[in-house]
Amino acid sequence: MAAFTNQQLHYRSDLFGRLRIPGPKSRNGPTRVRMSLQENAPSLAVVGVTGAVGQEFLSVLADRDFPYRSIKMLASKRSAGQRISFEDRNYEVEELTADSFDGIDIALFSAGGSISKQFGPIAVDRGTIVVDNSSAFRMVDGVPLVIPEVNPEAMDGIKVGNGKGALIANPNCSTIICLMAATPLHRHSKVIRMVVSTYQAASGAGAAAMRELELQTHEVLEGKQPTCDIFQRQYAFNLFSHNSSVLPNGYNEEEMKLVKETRKIWNDSNVRVTATCIRVPVMRAHAESVNLQFEKPLDEDKARDILKNAPGLVVIDDRASNNFPTPLEVSKKDDVAVGRIRRDVSQEGNHGLDIFVCGDQIRKGAALNAIQIAEMLL
Ligand SMILES: NC(=O)c1ccc[n+]([C@@H]2O[C@H](COP(=O)([O-])OP(=O)(O)OC[C@H]3O[C@@H](n4cnc5c(N)ncnc54)[C@H](OP(=O)(O)O)[C@@H]3O)[C@@H](O)[C@H]2O)c1
Repeated sequence: MAAFTNQQLHYRSDLFGRLRIPGPKSRNGPTRVRMSLQENAPSLAVVGVTGAVGQEFLSVLADRDFPYRSIKMLASKRSAGQRISFEDRNYEVEELTADSFDGIDIALFSAGGSISKQFGPIAVDRGTIVVDNSSAFRMVDGVPLVIPEVNPEAMDGIKVGNGKGALIANPNCSTIICLMAATPLHRHSKVIRMVVSTYQAASGAGAAAMRELELQTHEVLEGKQPTCDIFQRQYAFNLFSHNSSVLPNGYNEEEMKLVKETRKIWNDSNVRVTATCIRVPVMRAHAESVNLQFEKPLDEDKARDILKNAPGLVVIDDRASNNFPTPLEVSKKDDVAVGRIRRDVSQEGNHGLDIFVCGDQIRKGAALNAIQIAEMLL
């Protein structure tokens, strides 16, 4: 079994996004000198800093020594005044307003689509480059939808310091995790059809959903009626169709995001994609079964080699001990794990492949991907 290559985090927000991001320690223990707070570095704003993704932004910024000269912590009026300790400094959460973006170079948004729609364009007008985690702008023409390992060229020419604001969208978490594994194979043999089935964690629905899954688990085990505020149904010891709205064509919004975003990211309006998205009672990290049909043949050994050499991916594919990717194993990790790599016996020759992918969707599916985008702005 391959080991994860990415560096283990020394610290992070706790599972439920409580507000403490302590300064880092070197791998041997003592605190190392921070290089990220620099006078000539960009000024940052984190919008939705108190949420699951917002907290992860802080962890990833610290973990990657992202350079910044200042950082503004923004959330709703409810959280204004709350204190956040980040990299040995204390910050006060401020209420997001139109004036929040004065002098801000890069804003990382994760406060929901309506907030992005309202404040994203205001920020851009003030010269800020917005990296948005919501679905508000993903399918808007001219807004790059970027996975850095897949289509970095989509944001060519957008840089901090050229005096212009811009919007860049982070794809949906399920799309990112799927395409991290499917793209290297697509580049080799061109995917013509993809069938995705997801097993999505509580964390994808935010910090409150994670808290409710934990609460419900206690309640069910104690023989009590479970609290059902978030999904209006029992989540612990259950699974159900993804909670996004069901559209007139019978697909839910999450499924159609996979369909549409794949076409935009691959710049291929002909690729046929279908998806079934399911919420499972896993705390953190999504799993996806992905069936691929290729234009050109691709045998499973070659596919395994391609995946082993792909950036941001780790192959866990040990048939002898029946060991394959799991959500637990990828939780809080940067890399997406792929396994169960096998020829699809229902397709002719080597034109079909099945794979199973797991990725931490708060990390690579949201915060890490957004900060990799921000790194390309420097
Ligand atoms: N969770 C994931 O894995 C994931 C992955 C990809 C994308 N996303 C997207 O990221 C966004 C946030 O998701 P999340 O999971 O982090 O949700 P969450 O845990 O519920 O956090 C929501 C954040 O938005 C803030 N917020 C809400 N209303 C606001 C307002 N009126 N003004 C300013 N801030 C406001 C909240 O601040 P308060 O604490 O003050 O309410 C909180 O910081 C959503 O658009 C989601 O679709 C999430």
